[in-house]
Amino acid sequence: MFYIISLGPGDPDLITIKAIKALEKCDIIFVPVRSKILEWEGSVAYKILSRLEHNFQSKFQPIYTPMSYNPESWKDQVEQIASACITNKTVGFVTLGDAAVYSSAYYLLSIIKEKYNSIYENTEVIPGVTSISYASAKVKIPLCLGNSSLEIVPMHREDVKSTKVYMRLHKGDDVRSLKGEELYYFENLGMENEAYGEGTPGIIENYLTVIINFNEGQK
Ligand SMILES: C[S@@+](CC[C@H](N)C(=O)[O-])C[C@H]1O[C@@H](n2cnc3c(N)ncnc32)[C@H](O)[C@@H]1O
Repeated sequence: MFYIISLGPGDPDLITIKAIKALEKCDIIFVPVRSKILEWEGSVAYKILSRLEHNFQSKFQPIYTPMSYNPESWKDQVEQIASACITNKTVGFVTLGDAAVYSSAYYLLSIIKEKYNSIYENTEVIPGVTSISYASAKVKIPLCLGNSSLEIVPMHREDVKSTKVYMRLHKGDDVRSLKGEELYYFENLGMENEAYGEGTPGIIENYLTVIINFNEGQK
């Protein structure tokens, strides 16, 4: 099993129970570091993990994570993780905030998907609290409310793809016109009757529905 484990924004109390359970299960936990000589200094993930009451220190393995995506610069890291998985270990890779938001874990996963599909099939991503949810809570100002929308923009952006999230759908809404190569709907997430799939649900039946058009065209 390969777990991508979101650690939340920094406060150890904001690490989820699911993340702690995954950390417990892991035989080896890859912790991103910024230096090629694999020093812990400067590793925010290491700092968060060190503040936990649980001591997972003996399982930590530093792993250098480049900031950008170039499959060549991730090659060694992928091999390291793959060989740990292949020796039947339960392996973790930790990431800041929530893995869904600008996490290099997905650089890794895209290469793993291509090269080691069986590891990809046995990968679970554990979501976490993103830094922007925490920031919003600090100042008691919502990120979006009513009919307002939320935009997350990389400061030094070039022309990049953009993901659009549709929330606050109403029962009876006809969403069949939404199109996208990576369009997914999610209903009753985390509940017993959770359902999700590609495309749209057609006519909305559940209030607890979210539709995500991942990596829509250029914005
Ligand atoms: C590579 S992104 C990772 C975001 C992360 N996955 C999340 O969900 O927040 C790193 C950026 O997230 C923001 N960030 C992450 N953790 C933060 C924190 N504890 N305080 C303030 N900003 C943070 C900063 O803008 C930083 O440049």
